[in-house]
Amino acid sequence: MIISVTGTPGVGKTTIAKLLAGILSYDYIDLKEFAVSNGLGEPYEGEIAIDTERLSEVAREKLKGKNAVVDGHLSHLIPSDVVIVLRTNPKVLGERLKGRGYPRSKVADNVEAELIDLILVEALEFNKRVIEIDTTGKDPETVVSEILTLLNGNMEKRVGIVDWSRYYDDIVKYLHVREENENK
Ligand SMILES: Nc1ncnc2c1ncn2[C@@H]1O[C@H](COP(=O)(O)OP(=O)(O)O)[C@@H](O)[C@H]1O
Ligand SMILES: [Mg+2]
Repeated sequence: MIISVTGTPGVGKTTIAKLLAGILSYDYIDLKEFAVSNGLGEPYEGEIAIDTERLSEVAREKLKGKNAVVDGHLSHLIPSDVVIVLRTNPKVLGERLKGRGYPRSKVADNVEAELIDLILVEALEFNKRVIEIDTTGKDPETVVSEILTLLNGNMEKRVGIVDWSRYYDDIVKYLHVREENENK
């Protein structure tokens, strides 16, 4: 069984995926490393651009029949038996990413992505079984036990559990600064 753990950068994918893989005795796969070691990563503007269509094909072939937890913000784009979409209140995420030393514009990109459910929507396009988990204010062990409870209970789909727009006033300070006369 392939369990993909996805979400906006900083939501806790790596922490949760490693814990989950350990408990289930599944392989842990860092999808970015997997992509690079399969020749699918190209250096681009200081980062690595990954051909996601090829990645999906290669992952389908190479992970077939394996028991693995796949970690990465692109993991919802590969064929998975279940996709876990981790969510974190963008206000908490903004502080966490600032703490990681991300530049303001990168914090803004990610806070915005979390606010508009970007990865959740993509996950639903690419995979049938999608389970959303709100990690806000929980410790990693609690999140993992929530995931295990849902998987053991054969939860087929659980989406639409958070609405960050309610926190917009707290979030707006992390978003991109727009030029006042931009549209004039
Ligand atoms: N409930 C939680 N689940 C996962 N990580 C959490 C949680 N609460 C706080 N954290 C912290 O948030 C950070 C998440 O980092 P990481 O796992 O690298 O995220 P990602 O892989 O999504 O970028 C870690 O410092 C972790 O300790
Ligand atoms: Mg990570």
